[in-house]
Amino acid sequence: MYLRRNLSVLLLLLTGGLTNAQTSNTAKVESMLKKMTLEEKVGQMAQITLDVIGKGKDRFTSDEPFSLDEKAMQKALVQYKLGSVLNTSNNRARTPQVWYDIITKIQQSAMKGTKNGIPVLYGIDAIHGETYTAGATMFPQQIGQAATFNRSLVHKGAEITAYETRASSIPWAFSPLLDLGADPRFPRQWESFGEDPYLVTQMGIQAVKGLQGDNNDVDNPSHVAASIKHFLGYQVPVSGKDRTPAFISDQALREYHLPSFQAAIAAGAKTIMINSGIINGVPVHANYNLLTKLLKEELGFKGLAVTDWGDIENLYQRDHVAKDNKDAVRIAINAGIDMSMVAYNYEAFCDDLIALVKEGKVKESRIDDAVRRILLVKYELNLFNKPTTNPKDYPKFGSKEFEQASYQAAAESITLLKNTDQVLPLNKPVKILVTGPNANSMRTLNGAWTYSWQGEKVEEFAAKYHTFLKAIELKTGKQNVTYVPGVSYKMDGKYFEEYADQLDAAIAAAKNADVVVLCLGENSYTESPGNLSDLYLSDLQTELAQKLAATGKKIILVLNEGRPRIISKFEHKMSAVLQSYLPGNFGGDAIADILFGTVNPSGRLPYTYPQFPNALFTYYHKPSESRSTTEGVYNYDSDYNPQYIFGQGLSYTTFKYSPLKLSTSTLKKDEILTVSVEVTNTGTLDGKESVLLYTSDLVATLISPDVKRLRAFDKIEIKTGETKTVIFKITADDLGFINPEGKKVTEDGDFTLQIADQKINFTYNQ
Ligand code: BGC
Repeated sequence: MYLRRNLSVLLLLLTGGLTNAQTSNTAKVESMLKKMTLEEKVGQMAQITLDVIGKGKDRFTSDEPFSLDEKAMQKALVQYKLGSVLNTSNNRARTPQVWYDIITKIQQSAMKGTKNGIPVLYGIDAIHGETYTAGATMFPQQIGQAATFNRSLVHKGAEITAYETRASSIPWAFSPLLDLGADPRFPRQWESFGEDPYLVTQMGIQAVKGLQGDNNDVDNPSHVAASIKHFLGYQVPVSGKDRTPAFISDQALREYHLPSFQAAIAAGAKTIMINSGIINGVPVHANYNLLTKLLKEELGFKGLAVTDWGDIENLYQRDHVAKDNKDAVRIAINAGIDMSMVAYNYEAFCDDLIALVKEGKVKESRIDDAVRRILLVKYELNLFNKPTTNPKDYPKFGSKEFEQASYQAAAESITLLKNTDQVLPLNKPVKILVTGPNANSMRTLNGAWTYSWQGEKVEEFAAKYHTFLKAIELKTGKQNVTYVPGVSYKMDGKYFEEYADQLDAAIAAAKNADVVVLCLGENSYTESPGNLSDLYLSDLQTELAQKLAATGKKIILVLNEGRPRIISKFEHKMSAVLQSYLPGNFGGDAIADILFGTVNPSGRLPYTYPQFPNALFTYYHKPSESRSTTEGVYNYDSDYNPQYIFGQGLSYTTFKYSPLKLSTSTLKKDEILTVSVEVTNTGTLDGKESVLLYTSDLVATLISPDVKRLRAFDKIEIKTGETKTVIFKITADDLGFINPEGKKVTEDGDFTLQIADQKINFTYNQ
């Protein structure tokens, strides 16, 4: 026994703690690296978009139907020996068979045409399902997945996405997005798991595990390599607009933005994409401290770091921290970038990088480090032996089973924010007016990254699924439903362009209805095209809501939006409010089931819904942000005044929480605090309840503590009349915060623990 243990210790020491498979992949990488010329190595570090090697009039567009341009492919993959290709062509989804044909040809060109036969690593934005594959299962966008507060649904969604991505012959997904969605103005908040660091971290781990497999066995042809993104601090620029400067202290970076990435790296994420923005004046792609010191040295990230789109060029073209392309390449590669998502101008990237190495401005050891990381992912994915995966081996692609998983996620994401006088569910047949620009659109249900980048082609690919209108008609009978749009989006315009579309007719129709289902929100957008200058919901939609309210009819507001557009001008006139986020292809069915009570809603808001544009908070704000008055002559207004709080979410049943029980009232350093609470379903319907545990640190040294922080959650199903006990385990580490020196500390002192309306205090004493 003793001998065996020592032998294994010795082996672990010799192999640096690697498993057999890892050792052999590492050995393969080293042996390949020895055979490679500088040109080959640099080629591996470049990634191009598919249009570059497609037949067409230029690099930016390909002919339809798509076909590869042999000459362009020869130049890119054989002459320049490029390591990676991304994206689709002409910004549209392809069938799995077309993907298979394209990638087979790409791999043949790269592997047969070159001496070392290194396969291409194909990457794609599989964002809420395999974005660019026709027939793939589209899930709720991440913001809705977060609202489910159900880890297993996120895991399942990612697992199915991996399967369908491989069914399209693609082994690498640029997902999940682990940015903190803490700013409702940002055009990608909906791509995040919301504003809370713990929720983002927990769901991020599930997404990585779902994509890569629980054991990170990405050689399994149902798994893909994940690319967590966008490292680091992407979603909180000062202006609220995409790719503009953010100012984030080191303390805040580590407290709020780092944990999700740190946990996903610890969970085994194979690749990471870098934040396209600028933090404290420095473009992140040029930041050695973040990319090498923090990411690679401190966090020990062994995978590959890829730029975001064109971000090395951005260093000179946009940010002016480099004088030309060559200077930009030098800065980014020396900062720690392993692969450049060049997109188009790969010749300049490769030629400049080769010259820089020859001039001694980039060390060959840096190139070797980058190429090692790239090759390791390729070996781990088993691409050398199996460079493509064939759709015929993926019988479950687009299956009913997968669709059911998407429906389930949508049903658990939808969040009932308000339900005056229990207007919902609609128990008996009533005459319904369905109206609003989001009532009859598959595009708005899905949002961007659906069959195309901005989502404008959704109707073409998703015709067989049900819009809100269609699903409501199917549920209650067409004879009970009148539809008048009232307002419509300009489908060929900018996402925010809309026009009055029989607005007066909609008001007139309301008079003949018992209930109005008003579907408002946003059209699809992402990245800079989704920038926004006014967080209020549009004037036209507001007008529609107000005029409908003036009829005196009961209005059920169904929100379908990527970020919380402010509705305070008319919210008080709505009888019920349902947030559907961007629920995917089954969002219409899920809403109809919730409206008519077939499904009891159980989503919870994963962000704070603001009431005013100049009052944007996260729930974990500082005490100074939620003081309504202060003693003395001053009576100032710094009210914390959201429309709906983080975690808000009603049910058609009621839950009662027992007083909290703690295993001890004084937690010691290496002990565990066990918290238990009984939850009883006191209503008349079975329901699901997310139990959220918060703690508050009552006094902290120098750093003003957040008013409260989510530390644990669980979702349970409780039948009517039933009681369930929920148990959480809290450690000292869970209670810590990042101090001004950037170190995580848990200080002795008093804490409050809160679950629903129950609170209890305890002490931490090392
Ligand atoms: C986005 C990334 C995306 C990449 C590749 C970029 O513009 O910021 O999130 O993965 O494009 O399509």
